[in-house]
Amino acid sequence: MPALAAVRAANAAFSPAYFPVAVFVGGTSGIGRATAEAFARYTKGNAHIVIVGRNKSAADEVIASFPKPTEPAAKHEFVQCDVFLMRNIQATTATLRERLPKINFLVLSPGLFNFRGRDETAEGIDKRLGLHYYARWKFVYDLLPLVRKAKDAGEDAKVMSILAAGQGGPVNLDDLAMKKSYNVAKAGMTSPTYTDLMFEHYAKENPDLAFIHIYPGFVATPLVLASPWAFRPLNYLAKALATSPEDCAEYMLYGLFQTEKGFSRRNQKGDDIGNHRHYGSEEERERVWEHSKEEIDRALAVKIPAA
Ligand SMILES: *[C@@H]1O[C@H](CO)[C@@H](O)[C@H](O)[C@H]1NC(C)=O
Repeated sequence: MPALAAVRAANAAFSPAYFPVAVFVGGTSGIGRATAEAFARYTKGNAHIVIVGRNKSAADEVIASFPKPTEPAAKHEFVQCDVFLMRNIQATTATLRERLPKINFLVLSPGLFNFRGRDETAEGIDKRLGLHYYARWKFVYDLLPLVRKAKDAGEDAKVMSILAAGQGGPVNLDDLAMKKSYNVAKAGMTSPTYTDLMFEHYAKENPDLAFIHIYPGFVATPLVLASPWAFRPLNYLAKALATSPEDCAEYMLYGLFQTEKGFSRRNQKGDDIGNHRHYGSEEERERVWEHSKEEIDRALAVKIPAA
């Protein structure tokens, strides 16, 4: 288990021979934000960094905190997208595919923290499963051609989902969308397993790319600290016990930089955990893949009346 100082030193050694392009989905808050900020620091702002999220004023703050670049090609920008809806993601990825020459690092971290039961978007996808899994599936599916271009140029080409490697549960083939039976705990254990299976599928088809599923552990993010009032007393405890987003971001970047290629599951210290608490057979992997594609196509076809 590398110590924080060693992790920082390893991250500081990141010095690519190419000009990096990084996309942070969910980079306006919490761990995603801290990871984007750390990335900007280690590249001294000399990168094209795209923050995708909902909150423009938060994004403006994040971008203002980045070091001022010295290279003319550097660009720090916000792309507004409410990632609850698959059609919004489709529109955003279409413009990114037109505008960006490549993506070296695609980091996905949109999250939701509450104790509500199944809560559907206008497209009929549960919000929790949507943010933690389907939205990320859609971003990777749509942007993979840009990641491929980075690899074809001999550069880093990596996709990372900051979720919960090693915290998943078994697959229920009779209810893959969790429409028949739903509870918060089960939903919380479903997305991590689906993430493993999704990345295994991608890694099998793209063995030269890197796919990382990493668990941030318990971090004092705004999502956690803004938990329902009944849990507020826990916040004091949380602040005392939790990792800060800044320290967590170091471990997240470490996991990203240290994975050369293939699929890697990592813990809150950035260590590879192999198949620890891995669920899902090969058959389940392909069933979840087909289900994800079908469920997102179904969501895209839903007619939403204009407000
Ligand atoms: C958006 O970000 C700003 C600045 O961080 C914050 O004050 C505001 O509460 C956020 N809005 C929402 C809806 O989260």
